[in-house]
Amino acid sequence: MIIVSICVGSSCHLKGSEEIVELFQKTLEERGLQDDVVLMGSLCMGKCNRVGVTIQVDDDIFPGITVAGFAEFFEKNIVARLKAEA
Ligand code: FES
Repeated sequence: MIIVSICVGSSCHLKGSEEIVELFQKTLEERGLQDDVVLMGSLCMGKCNRVGVTIQVDDDIFPGITVAGFAEFFEKNIVARLKAEA
């Protein structure tokens, strides 16, 4: 089980938090991973970036996640992590 917090603070909100949340939910459904990942929203994590949204995966924080970079982020930090946990 992985805990993911997507920042919905004002800076990240302006840089597409809502889109990232939707993309995350859609991708989890498509991959059948809804039961393996807990998705939450979070206030500012103090990692506001000029580009993209901050996402925390368990204890690791990744700033600057964009829609364009989402697929790579998901493979590296969600799918690979779940495989490592299994
Ligand atoms: S608003 Fe998201 S890290 Fe600051």
